[in-house]
Amino acid sequence: MSDTSKSATLTIDGESYELPIYTPTCGPDVIDIRKLYGQAGVFTYDPGFTSTASCDSTITFIDGDKGELLHRGYPIEQLAEKSHYLEVCYLLLYGDLPSAADLEEFEATITRHTMIHEQMHNFFRGFRRDAHPMATMVGVVGAMSAFYHDSTDPNDERQREIASHRLVAKMPTIAAMAYKYSIGQPFVYPRNDLDYAANFLHMCFAVPAEEYEVDPIISRAMDRIFTLHADHEQNASTSTVRLASSSGANPFACIAAGIACLWGPAHGGANQACLEMLKEIGSPENIPDYIARAKDKNDPFRLMGFGHRVYKNFDPRATVMKKSADEVLDLLGVENNPILATAKALEKAALEDPYFTEKKLFPNVDFYSGIILEAIGFPTSMFTPIFALSRTVGWISQWKEQLADPQMKIGRPRQLYQGSGLRDYVDIENR
Ligand code: SDX
Repeated sequence: MSDTSKSATLTIDGESYELPIYTPTCGPDVIDIRKLYGQAGVFTYDPGFTSTASCDSTITFIDGDKGELLHRGYPIEQLAEKSHYLEVCYLLLYGDLPSAADLEEFEATITRHTMIHEQMHNFFRGFRRDAHPMATMVGVVGAMSAFYHDSTDPNDERQREIASHRLVAKMPTIAAMAYKYSIGQPFVYPRNDLDYAANFLHMCFAVPAEEYEVDPIISRAMDRIFTLHADHEQNASTSTVRLASSSGANPFACIAAGIACLWGPAHGGANQACLEMLKEIGSPENIPDYIARAKDKNDPFRLMGFGHRVYKNFDPRATVMKKSADEVLDLLGVENNPILATAKALEKAALEDPYFTEKKLFPNVDFYSGIILEAIGFPTSMFTPIFALSRTVGWISQWKEQLADPQMKIGRPRQLYQGSGLRDYVDIENR
């Protein structure tokens, strides 16, 4: 643990308690309250964990005020520009950028784990064709816990590494199969001669009846989307994976829990909800009505793709994504895309409106990603599955870090109980 020379004094009913303060490499100091209940007999109260550090980590740092996102110290802007997704996976999993030889070995390992057990194909056929691909992914990834028994012991470092490789490698295959199943097309097997992003696009858009050439610029844009979604410190789905794995649960089942949490529209489901909102708005002329609804306390409508628990300035990922949206639509010759025009007009209107600027509500990673994904040819239902496959490496990196921590304990929060006090059972004839 970092420097502990400082402490906080808490006084309750005349009794004072000293609580150690730790100063991290970056970010705010933290007060260690682990002994508080034992010493003072009180709990702290923080629903939604707005002021609570659930763990210590060395993987990702976010400065919400500066709009800064670092992966092992490297800024997301530099990684998006100069690196590629599998190299970022290596960085997150192993702690630093790989040598050329290490990267080649890692990529070869991932490439050779992209197929799923042939018997798992049957799981897809149990779903209705109109099942949301996220439902399919939760089910099929959870089912991996019944197939890969040589990589399910979370206490075995080598098994943890094999499970990591299998999940990073197989998620694109599972996501692509979920998409193919939903449109009634045959599954397309992964190909070892394609890189990670190109392989995913090929599995999604190729058909057995003809050759499918992956456009290298679209593939680069896809790879950049994977990189921008790779990890994001202790967000809701990562915290879900950490809490699930704190009981020693099967790693594949823990990732399935992360997928389930990511699905929500307040989290990873926002990219689908955002594009559907932009389509509903339809054109820039309708923006004032929707801005008014978003500000109306009596209207549950929110601007999807806006706001963030941590970023109280711009989301650096949204900045990169916006630039990529312009490039991809330009390449595809999608002139004057009405959705992009509406998105840019909405962003401008919101950023000029005191309600949003005072509440620090800026576009987040989900605001522009859907525009790119739709331009590439994905239906909105595939947006969150793509977020899930990108975030798998983040979930797994945080899972490995937690399991390697000798201080790890099962997560077991307490509560502020507001229910009935002790009372006796009342027989039904007396109620
Ligand atoms: C992701 O945590 C992560 O890192 C997540 C993520 C990742 O990479 O893992 O970054 C990915 O989930 C991005 C966020 C995607 N979600 C959305 O775009 C959905 C729309 N955004 C909101 O639902 C909201 O902003 C959250 C959920 C993202 C953050 O919610 P908070 O921090 O709990 O903030 P809040 O709900 O308490 O809102 C604070 C105020 C409220 O007004 P008051 O009650 O103070 O008057 O801001 C308002 C809210 O009503 N508000 C919005 C708004 N978001 C917040 N008003 C209109 N539109 C919005 N989008």
